[in-house]
Amino acid sequence: MSTARITLQTLRERKADGQRFSCLTVYDASCAQLAATAGIELLLVGDSLGMTVHGRSDTLGVTLADIAYHLRCVRRGNRGSLLAADLPLGSYTTPALAAASAAELARAGAEVVKLEGGRWLAEQLRLIVRCGIPVCAHLGLCPQSVHLYGGYCRQGSDPKQAAEIEADALALEEAGASLLVLECVPAALAERISHQLSIPVIGIGAGSGTDGQVLVLQDMLGISEVAPPFSRDFLRDTGSVAAAMSAYRAAVLAGEFPPASDLAP
Ligand code: KIV
Repeated sequence: MSTARITLQTLRERKADGQRFSCLTVYDASCAQLAATAGIELLLVGDSLGMTVHGRSDTLGVTLADIAYHLRCVRRGNRGSLLAADLPLGSYTTPALAAASAAELARAGAEVVKLEGGRWLAEQLRLIVRCGIPVCAHLGLCPQSVHLYGGYCRQGSDPKQAAEIEADALALEEAGASLLVLECVPAALAERISHQLSIPVIGIGAGSGTDGQVLVLQDMLGISEVAPPFSRDFLRDTGSVAAAMSAYRAAVLAGEFPPASDLAP
């Protein structure tokens, strides 16, 4: 698989052409190299590393220094995929703090930074973009808010909540977001938002109607202690990490993963 450099423009063109793209979390150089070589378009140094790498029960203990450390590792292994990283809990509570945190991740190699939350983050998002750093918004189930929900629960199932998520998506696009992740929302809602927005929308546990899909690496390899029900073990049928990554990407691009039958109400 050739690994021509992927940019935000590539993902925008994919959306315009109706072509899907894949995203995978990675936290170290060797997995980054394998994923980029497999053609995974977008690599994400997610704060899920608090759970997958550090062994915590949630993402809340992850610091900006943790993300920057893993990002530098991933950057060394990357071979031309677009590289995004999470702003961890507490690192974007004000516009000035958000801009400083985003700049630190950009210095460590992030080409896009991701933050969790709705319209109330518009000012943070605007300032980060004004500093020259693209932003990916994250709506639906936002793991940094797990204690507000009382668990990792599906979001947007009732019409009022769905309307809030839709309004947040439009507001964050208007504020300058370049990408949007929708996590654990009904497929119909995710598909509607993907059609409404001009920026690429990436789903996880959100059905097959989004422009891209993301999985946590360990879930995709079937090595998480508890994998979410929407995930698939791509390693079992392929036998190597590299082949599993290629199979995951191929299934996403072909519209076979997630299956249309996963369309949640
Ligand atoms: O932290 C993470 O891995 C994420 C993805 C699941 C989207 O935010």
